[in-house]
Amino acid sequence: MKILLLGPEGQLGHELRALLPALGELVAVSRAELDVGTLESVREALARIRPHLIVNATAYNEVDRAESDMSRAIAVNRDAVLAMGEYGKRERAALIHYSTDFVFDGTKGAPYVETDRENPLSSYGKSKLAGEQALTGIEAPAIVMRTAWVYSLRRKSFVSMIHRMAREKEELRVVRDQVGSPTFCRDLARASAVVIARLGPDPFAKADELRGVYHAAGEGACSRFELARAVLELDPKRSEHVVKQLEPATTDSFPAPARRPSSTPLDCSKLRDVFGARFLPWKIALAEALSGT
Ligand SMILES: NC(=O)c1ccc[n+]([C@@H]2O[C@H](COP(=O)([O-])OP(=O)(O)OC[C@H]3O[C@@H](n4cnc5c(N)ncnc54)[C@H](OP(=O)(O)O)[C@@H]3O)[C@@H](O)[C@H]2O)c1
Repeated sequence: MKILLLGPEGQLGHELRALLPALGELVAVSRAELDVGTLESVREALARIRPHLIVNATAYNEVDRAESDMSRAIAVNRDAVLAMGEYGKRERAALIHYSTDFVFDGTKGAPYVETDRENPLSSYGKSKLAGEQALTGIEAPAIVMRTAWVYSLRRKSFVSMIHRMAREKEELRVVRDQVGSPTFCRDLARASAVVIARLGPDPFAKADELRGVYHAAGEGACSRFELARAVLELDPKRSEHVVKQLEPATTDSFPAPARRPSSTPLDCSKLRDVFGARFLPWKIALAEALSGT
C-alpha cells in the first residue's frame, strides 16, 4: 500500500512520518515540494504519485491571520481537500483528513458529539468546516478526524509557548474562560495509525463504508489556565523557571482578530467504538510530551 503524507514537517506530520512506514510504503511530500494551495499542483502530484491512501496533515492554521486572508485559508483548508477527496473517489483511494473543534461555537455546555450542529465563529473555523462539507458533499472515502488544541514542544503551540515563557517572564497571565481537550500530536498520530491499520489492505473499501467525521482529541478537558499550570508543574526542568506567578485572565483582556469558542470538549467515543482508537487522559499525555524536553 502506497501512503502519501502531506505536511510531514508540521506538529502532527512529524509524528506520522515516524509511524506510517509500519503501515505501508510511505511517500512524504513537504511544502517545499508541493504547495497544496495551488490546485493544479495537488492534482498533478496525486496523478504522479498514485497513492492508495492520502494522509493530509497540512492546514492553514493561523487563526487570526485567516480573518484577513480567507481566500488562502479556503484554498488550503477546502479546495485542496476537495481535490484529494475527488482523487480518492475516482481512483479508489482513501483519505485521512483532520478538522478542528473551532467548527463549534462553544455554547453547548457539554462535550460535543459528531452530530452536534456546527457554528464556527472564525474564518479559520469556517474554512475547516468548508473542507469537511466538501468531502461530505461528494461522498468522498474520507475519515475526518476532528481534533483540538494540538501541541508539541517542537513547533509553536500553546504548550511550547508556556514552556518557553516560564523561562523568560516572572508573571504569566492565561485565560481561564476557554475550555477544550488538549491533544499531544504524538497521541493523535498514534490514533491515526490505529485507524489506518483498521482500514486494512484495501483502505478505500473500508473508508468508503465508514466515511465521516470522528472526534479525536486528548481525553478530558481543561481551561487554558489549568493547562498552563500543568505545564509548569510537570516540566521536569522546573529549575530553569523564572516564573513566580500564574494569573487567571479572561479572553476579553487579550483582544484578537478572530473569535474563539469558549468551551469545546470533544466526546471521542465514536472513534473508540468504530476503530478501537483511544487517547490518553490529557495530563498523562502532557507529562509524556514534557519528559522529552
Ligand atoms: N494546532 C492546533 O491547535 C489544531 C487544533 C485543531 C485542529 N488542528 C488540525 O490538525 C491538523 C494538524 O495540525 P498541526 O498542529 O500539526 O499543524 P501545523 O503544525 O501547523 O502543520 C501544518 C503543516 O501544513 C503545512 N502547510 C501549510 N500550508 C501549506 C501549503 N500551502 N502547502 C503545503 N503545506 C502546507 C505547514 O508547512 P510549514 O511547515 O511550512 O508551516 C505544516 O508543515 C490540521 O488539519 C489542523 O487544522 C490543529
